[in-house]
Amino acid sequence: MQSDSGHTTSVWMGTTEVPQFQPLTQDLRTNVCVVGAGIAGMTTAYLLARAGRAVVVIDDGPIGGGETSRTTAHLTAALDDRYYNIESIHGEEGARIAAESHMSAIHRVESIASMEDIDCDFERVEGYLFLGGKETRKDLERELDATHRAGLTDTQLVDRIPFGFWDSGPALRFPRQATVHPLKYLKGLARAILRDGGRIYTGVHAEKIEDGEPGTITTSSGHVISADNIVVCTNTPVNDWLIIHSKQAAYRTYVIAGRVPKGSVPHGLYWDTPDPYHYVRLQQAEDKSGNELDYEMLIVGGEDHRTGQAEDTEESFVRLEQWTRERFPMLERVEYRWSGQIMEPVDYLAYIGKNPGTDQHIWIATGDSGNGMTHGTIAGIILNELVQGRKHQWARLYDPSRVKLKATPEYIRENVNVAEQYKDYFTSGEQNDVAAIKPGEGAVIGRGRGKIAVYRDERGNIHRRSAICPHLYCIVHWNDTERTWDCPCHGSRFDPYGSVVNGPAIVGLSPVFPEQRQEKTAAKR
Ligand SMILES: Cc1cc2nc3c(=O)[nH]c(=O)nc-3n(C[C@H](O)[C@H](O)[C@H](O)COP(=O)(O)OP(=O)(O)OC[C@H]3O[C@@H](n4cnc5c(N)ncnc54)[C@H](O)[C@@H]3O)c2cc1C
Ligand code: FES
Repeated sequence: MQSDSGHTTSVWMGTTEVPQFQPLTQDLRTNVCVVGAGIAGMTTAYLLARAGRAVVVIDDGPIGGGETSRTTAHLTAALDDRYYNIESIHGEEGARIAAESHMSAIHRVESIASMEDIDCDFERVEGYLFLGGKETRKDLERELDATHRAGLTDTQLVDRIPFGFWDSGPALRFPRQATVHPLKYLKGLARAILRDGGRIYTGVHAEKIEDGEPGTITTSSGHVISADNIVVCTNTPVNDWLIIHSKQAAYRTYVIAGRVPKGSVPHGLYWDTPDPYHYVRLQQAEDKSGNELDYEMLIVGGEDHRTGQAEDTEESFVRLEQWTRERFPMLERVEYRWSGQIMEPVDYLAYIGKNPGTDQHIWIATGDSGNGMTHGTIAGIILNELVQGRKHQWARLYDPSRVKLKATPEYIRENVNVAEQYKDYFTSGEQNDVAAIKPGEGAVIGRGRGKIAVYRDERGNIHRRSAICPHLYCIVHWNDTERTWDCPCHGSRFDPYGSVVNGPAIVGLSPVFPEQRQEKTAAKR
C-alpha cells in the first residue's frame, strides 16, 4: 500500500493492500459525514452505520493512509503518561475511567474482529513496563499503586521480563493487553461499513468545514457534502484554528522492524520508562499474498521529538537500531524504517466530543498520544452515542472543551516552544544555494517573509513554494526521512510539492510570487 503521509513504508503498508474507493463526483446529503479514515474515523463510521445511520466517510488519501498505517498498534491500557500523572490532573475517578475505557477499547477491537470475521492477527499478550534512564524501582511502585487505584488490580511488579537472553530488571506486568495488524483491521471495518449502507470516498480533500443545519464540507474539487453531523477525525482537527492546537503538541516518532528467528522473543508489549521511551512488539512475518514466512518481525519504536525541530532525522534510526541490538542480539536484518506523528495533549488524555466553541453539529477526535489506537476506538464508542443525541459515561473526561488548571505548566511549556519558532523569520534559510540541493531533497532558502521551500525532484526539476505555513505562519522545515515540509509550531506537514499532509493546515503551501522567484534568480547570478 502507498500511504500519503510520508516517503517511508511501514511493515503494515509493506504487506497489505487496502481497497480503493472512488472520489466524489457530485454533491451529497447525508446524516453523518466522517472526515478521515483512520482508526478513529473508521470505528466511528462503523458503529454509526451499524446503528442504522446514513454515513459517508471521506479521506484525501487511501483508507488508513495517515498515522494508522504508521502505528505499531500496541493495544494497551498501560498509558504512556502514567496513571499517577493522570490521577494528579483528572483525579482518582478520571484515572479509573481512563483505565476502564482503554481496557474496553481493547475488548471492543477483539469483539468487532470476531463478530465481523476480520482476520487481523489480533492476539492477547502481556505488557511489561521496565526501567531505563534515571527511573528507579520506586517509580514502578508508584505506578503500580496508581494502576490499582484506577481499577487495574491485576497489574503486578515482577523481578524481570521473562526473557532468557537479557535481564531487564524489575518491571510492571499488565495482563490482557493485545496486538493487532492495523490495516487488516481497517479493511474489515471498511467491508462492514459498506455492508451496512455506508459510503466511502477517497482522494477527497475537505477544504472547508462549516457548522449549520445541515453542516457543510466543501471539498477541493468543489463538491459539497451536507450533513446533519460532521465528525472530524483527521488526527489533528483541520476545522479548528487555535483552541485545540494550543492544548496539544505534535511529535515525530521513529520505528524499525527487523527479522528475528521465530520464538526467539516472547510475544508481548514492552516499554521502557525514559521520556522519550522505547516501545517493542512482535509480528509474524508474511509475504504480500499473506503467506506466513519462517521468521518474525521485531518492531521497535522511539526517539520522539517535536515535529519540525530535529537536526538530523536519519540519526534517530541509527540510535534506535543501536538500542535494539544491545538488547535483542537475535535481531538480523532491519527491513523497515519509518516514522509517524503523534499528538500529545497537555493533560494526557484524548479530546473526543463536540468541537469547542459555538459549533453544534461538529464533533472531533484528537490528542491520541502513544495510545491512539485505543483512544481512536474510544472515540468511536463515545461519538456513536453523542452523535445520536445520547449521553456516554466517559464523555466528560474526554470533553475537548475541558480546562485543567493543573496542566498549566505543560501548556505553558509547549506554547513557549511554539512562540520560539517564530525566530525563524530572523535567521537565514537551511541552504543558500539552490544548486546545492540534491535530487530528492529540499531546503528552505532566503530570509523573513520571503523564505521559499525549494524541492528538487528525482529528475532534477526544481519546485518552489512559500515556506510559510498557512496555519499560523511559522516557517516549515525539510524532513529528509519522509520528504515532507514540517511545521515546527503545531505539526502541519506538506508533501514536497506543497500539498497538505497533516493538519491543522487545511490548505497547502502557497505558490511563490513571481517577484520572489526573480529575486532568487538574480541572487544566484
Ligand atoms: C510510529 C507510531 C507508533 C504508534 N504506536 C502506537 C501504539 O503502539 N499504540 C497506540 O495505541 N497508538 C500508537 N500510535 C498512535 C496511533 O497510531 C494514532 O494515534 C492513530 O493511528 C491515529 O488515528 P486517527 O484516526 O486519529 O488518525 P489517522 O490514522 O492519521 O487518520 C486521519 C485521516 O484523515 C485524513 N485527512 C486529514 N486531513 C484531511 C482532509 N482535510 N480531508 C480529508 N481527509 C483528511 C488523512 O488522510 C488520514 O487518513 C502510534 C503512532 C505512530 C505514528
Ligand atoms: S502548524 Fe500552526 S503555524 Fe504551522
